[in-house]
Amino acid sequence: MTSAEGRIAEGRVAAEPKAGDARRSAMRSMVAALNRMLPRSLLGRSLLIIITPLILLQVVSTWVFYDSHWETVTRRLAGSIAGDIAAVIALMEEVSGPEHYPRIFAVAEETMQLEMTLAPGKILRLNPLLMRETLVDRKLATALANVVRRPFLIDTRSLEKYVEIQVQLPDGVLHIVAPRRRLFSSTTYVFILWMVGTSLVLFAVATVFMRNQVRPIRRLAAAVDDFGKGRETGDFRIEGATEVRQVAAAFNLMRNRITRQITQRTEMLAGVSHDLRTPLTRMKLQLAMLPDSPDTADLKADVAEMEKMVGGYLAFARGEGTEQPVEVDLSALLKDVVGSARREGTTIDLHTEEDPLPMRLRPDAFRRCVGNLIANAQRYARTVSVRAGHRGAAVEITIDDDGPGIPPEQREEVFRPFYRLDQSRNSETGGIGLGLTIARDVMRSHGGELALAESPSGGLRARLRLPV
Ligand SMILES: Nc1ncnc2c1ncn2[C@@H]1O[C@H](COP(=O)(O)OP(=O)(O)OP(=O)(O)O)[C@@H](O)[C@H]1O
Ligand SMILES: [Mg+2]
Repeated sequence: MTSAEGRIAEGRVAAEPKAGDARRSAMRSMVAALNRMLPRSLLGRSLLIIITPLILLQVVSTWVFYDSHWETVTRRLAGSIAGDIAAVIALMEEVSGPEHYPRIFAVAEETMQLEMTLAPGKILRLNPLLMRETLVDRKLATALANVVRRPFLIDTRSLEKYVEIQVQLPDGVLHIVAPRRRLFSSTTYVFILWMVGTSLVLFAVATVFMRNQVRPIRRLAAAVDDFGKGRETGDFRIEGATEVRQVAAAFNLMRNRITRQITQRTEMLAGVSHDLRTPLTRMKLQLAMLPDSPDTADLKADVAEMEKMVGGYLAFARGEGTEQPVEVDLSALLKDVVGSARREGTTIDLHTEEDPLPMRLRPDAFRRCVGNLIANAQRYARTVSVRAGHRGAAVEITIDDDGPGIPPEQREEVFRPFYRLDQSRNSETGGIGLGLTIARDVMRSHGGELALAESPSGGLRARLRLPV
């Protein structure tokens, strides 16, 4: 093998898995397209599950019916017409002259509904185009061939309500017009009509019942969604199928446990903070009675800081839990917060993409959250910019500043209570390190998220995301 051949062979080996990949990806995109066509909702899917086998069953049974019953009926109807025609022809041969034909034709019309005329001396020109093969044509042709045994021509198409048959007789062509209903069974259409009608009724009944089954699931989904977004859900009625009741009961239990746990924690911490104040006050008094020295000065500063921390935590704990979410205009709320922050003297640029921006939230808590972030930016930077607008299924608020920012490895740490970056930076600012903790807590209680990043001007960017 030359080296070129070797390369080609290699190329082929390498190309094969690629073809497989292409087939697989084509399959995958086909499945994806099919998935996209299927209904998304539970109601739609369950109706599809009911309706697909139903239609399948009907198509199969109609097919079977068409094949056996319809064929038998058509054969018998065709046989009856052919028999009548044969009888008339036999009678015509029996009588002794064409002058008797009109009487025979009159009887045929009266008793067999066959309209007959004779074209004397005419020769039938067989036209295969008029004998296109349908089931009726075939059955009629077989019956005529069996019973009449003369050249004939069938036309089941040209006339709307009649079927034309021409038979070659020794003295001319016998032209027969038979009503269509003598040849076509109307029960097929009635049958199909009944099938379609009953399936529509069944579909309507199934829709009503399925909707009742789906309603409690929808209600549960809404309650879970509300709870996730920190909204009041209230006790909703447990109803529906056993499994749905089970999930609803489990959700109620879980929600109550979580709520109870949060309240207990907050109350306990508030209690601890509150109880700490008494010994702190006692320490302060004792320190005041000691003679002044550098040691007592340090101790006094420590006690003062502890008091501030305890006070800050108590203020935070007090605001927890009591406020209820209401419908507010987020854009107005931001204007308000930024307006009062501007009075501190910093330039704050505010840009909201939508002007009334209605949202459901706890306004006081939310104001505190945004206020804390703006206060931080004001403390550590000179210019601040606040932006708000819809991003997909959430509202996003970004607060950018041009200060020193927070190094990436510290961006999680600063959320810890009482955590501050290097003390020297904070000594003159005098914060206690609860601002970000509270802000994130507020966001989480709304089902949202607070994340820190770097702002375009190198400072800190705080990004709030609130699900709508
Ligand atoms: N915009 C910012 N730019 C630079 N550093 C910041 C910024 N915001 C917060 N930090 C750092 O994160 C630390 C924690 O912030 P946090 O708001 O929790 O506490 P604080 O501002 O020190 O006190 P307070 O409880 O009064 O808000 C701050 O001490 C500061 O070091
Ligand atoms: Mg702060």
